[in-house]
Amino acid sequence: MKVLVVGSGGREHALVWKLKQSPHVKEVHCASGNAGIAKLAKCVDIDAEDIPSLVSYAEAEKIDLTIVGPEAPLAAGIVDEFERRGLRIFGPNKLAAEIESSKAFCKQLLRKYGIPTAQFEIFDDASEALKYVRSHGAPVVVKASGLAAGKGSIVCRSVEEAVDAVERIMIRREFGSSGDLIVVEEYLDGEEASVMVFTDGEAVKPMLPSQDHKPVFDDDTGPNTGGMGAYCPVPAIDEALFERIIETIIKPTVAAMAGEGRPYKGVLYAGLMLTVEGPKVLEYNCRFGDPETQAVLPLMDSDLVEIINAVIDGRLNEAEVCSSRRCCVCVVMASGGYPGKYEKGKVITGVEDAEALDDVIVFHAGTAVKEGQLVTNGGRVLGVTALGDDFLSATKRAYDAVSRIWFDGMHYRRDIGRRALRRLGLA
Ligand code: AMP
Ligand code: GLY
Repeated sequence: MKVLVVGSGGREHALVWKLKQSPHVKEVHCASGNAGIAKLAKCVDIDAEDIPSLVSYAEAEKIDLTIVGPEAPLAAGIVDEFERRGLRIFGPNKLAAEIESSKAFCKQLLRKYGIPTAQFEIFDDASEALKYVRSHGAPVVVKASGLAAGKGSIVCRSVEEAVDAVERIMIRREFGSSGDLIVVEEYLDGEEASVMVFTDGEAVKPMLPSQDHKPVFDDDTGPNTGGMGAYCPVPAIDEALFERIIETIIKPTVAAMAGEGRPYKGVLYAGLMLTVEGPKVLEYNCRFGDPETQAVLPLMDSDLVEIINAVIDGRLNEAEVCSSRRCCVCVVMASGGYPGKYEKGKVITGVEDAEALDDVIVFHAGTAVKEGQLVTNGGRVLGVTALGDDFLSATKRAYDAVSRIWFDGMHYRRDIGRRALRRLGLA
């Protein structure tokens, strides 16, 4: 079959890489891809949010299956539009994607169905919100309800910070209409983890849990980014805790969505805080995580296309999602200045040397080819990924690979995987 992947980052490279291993897949296309994806797929220069052009392309190229990476097209209704045209597509429709695109909807759903999450209030009025944060005190978390490219949640250590956060979102409107509503929620303490599952609206088949590293610098310091690295699985989540997450959080959420007349099909991603009271939902995403996918898919033994087809056809209970017992670590190499301003077009060397190592895969994010040379083309440039029989070997291999790659101004965290090693008593 011919598959179209929508998106252009490291997550999409990992999806394309995994799809290419399926005997069911004859050709992969990608809109719009990057230099790494271009080695595996036919890249077409259509923006991930340009739904009419994506529909026309899928029709003209006789694409059998479209898989959507980022949230924006899902929130805009790409699935509804493809289905209206009789095109096969994987992901939640617009109403179901609101679990990510409206934090207000998500929080109210969780409250209504008694699913563990932080206490919260929702406001549509800045003065009411300001009154609340002044009387409530800190720490507290202020969130724009709508999509904000991962930047709309502000953890506030003082009342002054909370006031500033409300003003940024509701008065200065830094996130536009995504800040029409805000969620002010209880600060939760603990370790964070990501659990992604496949669901067809009823059955749930989990992938292995993973951990992202959002702050830009080591030891979780500095501003938040799209994610500076990930590892899989998560030593902090043993079998009993994983079962508790699936049974008390994920399955009730899937049932709640069906109960609300918004059956959820696709990948459901729970961002969790592992608190002393148990796991609680920080947020839901309506898609694969980035960079979690780069650490999760290399461990997945099952055929991704078979799982996706089972989801679309509503027979996921017949499918198997199996993973190897190894460990995977993905270190993101970023452009100088990221997550702030950065320059593009820096020549990248050493990727082939890195890939020559056993059990190493270099997923591209912001890369392009210019005048025959591989150059940087975004904030997050590469996801250098390594497998190992344990976290020590996977981490060592990932950083061996990183040390072979160079571009002007590059930076990366040196502690990806350390939390896992510490938990195992190895760091
Ligand atoms: P979100 O966009 O809701 O996933 O939030 C982004 C990041 O903010 C999370 O990954 C956490 O690090 C942090 N965060 C969000 N909500 C809370 C909370 N209630 N308590 C503590 N940290 C939070
Ligand atoms: N890794 C965070 C996200 O995909 O939203």
